Amino acid sequence: MLNLNQIPSTPKFFGRRKGRVVRKAKQFLLENMLPQIRVTPETNFDAESLFGSPKQEVCLEIGFGDGQHLFGQALKNPKNGYLGVEVFQNGVANLLTLISGIKEGDNLPDKVDVCEYNVQNIRVFDDDVRLLFKAIPDAFFDKVYLLFPDPWPKNKHASRRFVNSENLKEIKRILKSGGIFRIATDHPVYKKHVLRTMHQNSDFLWTAKCGDDWRKEPSDWVKTKYQQKAIREGRRPVFFDYRKV
Ligand SMILES: C[S@@+](CC[C@H](N)C(=O)[O-])C[C@H]1O[C@@H](n2cnc3c(N)ncnc32)[C@H](O)[C@@H]1O
Repeated sequence: MLNLNQIPSTPKFFGRRKGRVVRKAKQFLLENMLPQIRVTPETNFDAESLFGSPKQEVCLEIGFGDGQHLFGQALKNPKNGYLGVEVFQNGVANLLTLISGIKEGDNLPDKVDVCEYNVQNIRVFDDDVRLLFKAIPDAFFDKVYLLFPDPWPKNKHASRRFVNSENLKEIKRILKSGGIFRIATDHPVYKKHVLRTMHQNSDFLWTAKCGDDWRKEPSDWVKTKYQQKAIREGRRPVFFDYRKV
């Protein structure tokens, strides 16, 4: 007999999947370039086959937005492998623009080959990261980045916040022992939410020893689009590094 509890439920996503019209160059990149670096829940999660060569560190960025941080990290650290996850199609297209240099108004080539670009250590899952968790083996990542997640500041929306016990269970599982989970936020409600939720969780330890460790950008930081918006609008971002116990 059918057991309803055995049917995997699709998590509800509350953000935006599509925005403004995707213009010609971005549409071209989504159709021709994304399939070359796309990861799916059926992908074999072996770091070497995923990235085409052994990697020093393997990192995950959840909700990479326009991709500046993901691209910047991958450019600075060619020996590492980066898996970026983003639901918002225009954000994924922007990352492809950063990697390929192909912009609106350029003459589009007949085809693209990611092997010809400088940055070859990025892979992308263009959907909700929660749909990918099951495919990722235990202790796969050295670092997980969650940068400026949607804050959902109203109490009635608190259950939508990404930092919650269910997702933390998965983050803990896919991180190596001693691996880092980095959360950045500029929202006062989310700052408190992170501190409270992570404090109650015995799987992670906050690495900060003094105020500068969370008020200042980490040394290996690359600015994100949301961070720059927050600074322009007078909000102060904070950076929390948690180590998996
Ligand atoms: C506020 S934006 C921040 C983007 C980027 N990290 C930055 O700092 O510029 C949050 C992003 O997370 C993405 N996001 C939210 N939940 C997600 C999920 N479950 N899986 C993948 N992406 C998600 C959203 O689509 C959105 O682009």
